[in-house]
Amino acid sequence: CGIVGILGSGPAAPLLVDALKRLEYRGYDSAGVATLEGGHLTRRRAEGKLRNLEERLAAQPLSGRSGIGHTRWATHGAPTERNAHPHATDRVALVHNGIIENFRELRTELEQGGTVFSTDTDTEVIAQLVSRNLEAGMAPADAVKATLDRLEGAFALAILFDGEDDLMIGARRGSPLAIGFSDGEIYFGSDAIALAPFTDRVSYLQDGDWAILTRAGATIYDADGAVVERPVTRALVTSLMVDKGNHRHFMAKEIYEQPEVVGHTLGHYLDFAGGRCAPDAIGGIDFASLDRLSITACGTAYYAGLVAKYWFERFARLPVDIDIASEFRYREQPLTPNGLSIVVSQSGETADTLASLRYAKAEGQKVAAIVNVQESTIARESDFVLPTLAGPEIGVASTKAFSCQLSVLASLAVAAGKARGHLTDVDEERLVRALSEIPRLMSQALRLETQMEALARDLAKVQHILYLGRGTSYPLALEGALKLKEISYIHAEGYAAGELKHGPIALIDENMPVVVIAPYDRIFDKTVSNMQEVAARGGRIILLTDPKGRDAAAIDAVETVILPEMPSTITPLVYTIPIQLLAYHTAVFMGTDVDQPRNLAKSVTVE
Ligand code: G6P
Repeated sequence: CGIVGILGSGPAAPLLVDALKRLEYRGYDSAGVATLEGGHLTRRRAEGKLRNLEERLAAQPLSGRSGIGHTRWATHGAPTERNAHPHATDRVALVHNGIIENFRELRTELEQGGTVFSTDTDTEVIAQLVSRNLEAGMAPADAVKATLDRLEGAFALAILFDGEDDLMIGARRGSPLAIGFSDGEIYFGSDAIALAPFTDRVSYLQDGDWAILTRAGATIYDADGAVVERPVTRALVTSLMVDKGNHRHFMAKEIYEQPEVVGHTLGHYLDFAGGRCAPDAIGGIDFASLDRLSITACGTAYYAGLVAKYWFERFARLPVDIDIASEFRYREQPLTPNGLSIVVSQSGETADTLASLRYAKAEGQKVAAIVNVQESTIARESDFVLPTLAGPEIGVASTKAFSCQLSVLASLAVAAGKARGHLTDVDEERLVRALSEIPRLMSQALRLETQMEALARDLAKVQHILYLGRGTSYPLALEGALKLKEISYIHAEGYAAGELKHGPIALIDENMPVVVIAPYDRIFDKTVSNMQEVAARGGRIILLTDPKGRDAAAIDAVETVILPEMPSTITPLVYTIPIQLLAYHTAVFMGTDVDQPRNLAKSVTVE
């Protein structure tokens, strides 16, 4: 969820909506605002996308100068208007990002005391607790502090009080919260992106902090109740909202941006002209001294990490543990003293990935973060920040962030191989040259769009699809299946091609399309055997390969998609283009909301 609060000098509601548009990547199940109208709390909320709230506000405008706003990714309670934030009593209104883990016992306690709840959310207990404390005669700050002491879980909060036009209180535990400053106005926001249209003077609350805001300034308290100063920094985020250009969806635009942004990202980490890694870009990571890497991430970023495991192990002979962040954070993995943790995250705000970072640090590891948002919490808490230069990614299904993550990871793997003495100067130059070819090959792969669109027309009619691959094409198969199911809602599974015979082969019949990702490489023949197994059972094969693979496969594929020949190291980056185009066009044929598919959020800030 995304939250914003404003103590302003003009009507707050339009500014709140503007900020919420930038926070929609955190969820879009419902949205709402509350302002003080003539001193009294007034709410407007709407189910669904932000535009529904905009319509509500157009019909019933608000003019108050103080307000809070929220865009929701539902956790507790269905995404209805009734459960939409802000949650309010007649004394307070508040917006919340996170989960209150002990809300059931708090709710029972309040209900036993006669409180009547009007929503199914965990958040309402906070509003009711603050109200009860105010009714008991406490001042607003004391009422909030006493409430915070009762809450368990992760949260960021912004709270407005009835009759208090110059007061807003916020708190941060786990979930991020920033304060924005400008002349005579002050703001809360989940991140600097939300505040970018108003100010670039931003102060990030630290875990456990809570803050009292008036138009004159902020008083920040730490978890122990001591007044603290948090530095005010100049946020680098641009206030410009990106647009779709000539494309129908952000996802299409972002797929097409890849040759350029991958070129930028590789160019940052590699010296193309010299055929070398650029050691300055990796900021002092000492690969030679490492005995283990652990990579942690969620979703698409996890699959980028899985590809990188193959690279680090092959080029640098460096053992890699790769984990889904929600598992890593509770797995109690022993981390070796000479290990390095790498977290990968487009947004830099994913709650499970952040928790993994903190676990690794607590275990004494150094942490390197591969992030697209350099202002993010994960970036700020890491020892080494390795940016992906993808630019803002708006489509919920990750495309260009994924290929830029792969670009950084490939560059690091080469640097690690060199530092550890497993790659010679000649190897390094060969690999850097290969990587430098990626933007050009990606542009060629984009020319496959018409073919992928035609294929998608057929895929849109089926109910299940399998994706298979070996080696680095295996994580790509997983990513292809994820991409397809996220945006088309067609059931898709990715498998290691060799694993097919251990179960999924039972699914194969003439109705089952099987997308096989098989560039012609040293294990190509093995994949061909697996394709034979599919063909023998009537499965419909869609083969992604190159001219050599086409000639060697001798398989009766329904369709063969031919990519240029290229060194096997770089195939995951180039083959991702047709995989993305296939998912995109299938979703377009299905008529789904491609950029904001149902039930998902761009960045999931709860666990
Ligand atoms: C969400 C998105 C995925 C994304 C994942 C990790 O679930 O829907 O597309 O891969 O979060 O996000 P991150 O920002 O950490 O890369």
